[in-house]
Amino acid sequence: MSLARVVVTRPLPEPALEVLRSGGAEVVVGGDVAGADAVVTTLLDRVDEAFLDAAGDGLRVVANVAVGYDNVDVPACAARDVAVTNTPDVLTDATADLALALILAVTRRMGEGERRIRSGVPWAWAMDFMLGRGLQGRTLGVVGYGAIGRAVAGRARAFGMEVVYTRRSGDGVPLEELLARAHVVSLHVPLSDATRHLIDADALAAMRPDAYLVNTARGPVVDEAALAVALRDGVIAGAGLDVYEDEPAVHPELLELENVVLVPHLGSATIETRTAMAELAARNALAVLAGDPPLTPVAT
Ligand code: GLV
Repeated sequence: MSLARVVVTRPLPEPALEVLRSGGAEVVVGGDVAGADAVVTTLLDRVDEAFLDAAGDGLRVVANVAVGYDNVDVPACAARDVAVTNTPDVLTDATADLALALILAVTRRMGEGERRIRSGVPWAWAMDFMLGRGLQGRTLGVVGYGAIGRAVAGRARAFGMEVVYTRRSGDGVPLEELLARAHVVSLHVPLSDATRHLIDADALAAMRPDAYLVNTARGPVVDEAALAVALRDGVIAGAGLDVYEDEPAVHPELLELENVVLVPHLGSATIETRTAMAELAARNALAVLAGDPPLTPVAT
């Protein structure tokens, strides 16, 4: 019997490749998906009808190395009986840590301070030099109260913040109330038709003028052009962004502003987390190839 062919679209941490090889797969890194029994994809891969056609009829599973799977046409996969999996949980802490890092960085003006020192422009301690805002006693608004949103809330409470949140079902407050109350709004919703531009010019205008917006979810959840205007005009105080509407491009006006901290999609970017994500994707692919249920299937 020939080995199952697993096409891994981009280089993955070696332990994940080892999981696949020791599970009896023939592993092909990069290149053509034609003839694959399984593909291990990243958020850079658009898994649409054309991708599925290229892979061919033998494809049984798309194992996406990310918790978000807006890059995968799930109904198209389901129509062809191709399972889709993601990597929840293993990246929760790393992503929540990065959200907190952005909250601290923007409220304490760390990007601006770093740029100032590197610019060589003289500086000196002064009572009123580069004052930011403290978090204690302030309100964090968590938009999307899944695992990552809850992990951010726990960290924020440790910093003395009150937390309000929205969530698709169950308790929580309406988005309008959250936007009006929160000193920091942190986004943790998946990208879908319902959440694209959830934070648009109107939502930004509904925020407090001393509030900060943090996005570690997906770029298109925010109307980036409207955000640039809001930051420039003082509609809100600042923003911390890990993700962008048209990645890797960043809206040129954001690059000119001091009150926004910009990092390049680093939410899950620790050695431990990326390894765990890749290993989970590998185990998902092997499970489906063995005829077992996937460990972490996406909802279809
Ligand atoms: C990263 O952005 C992820 O969805 O895992």
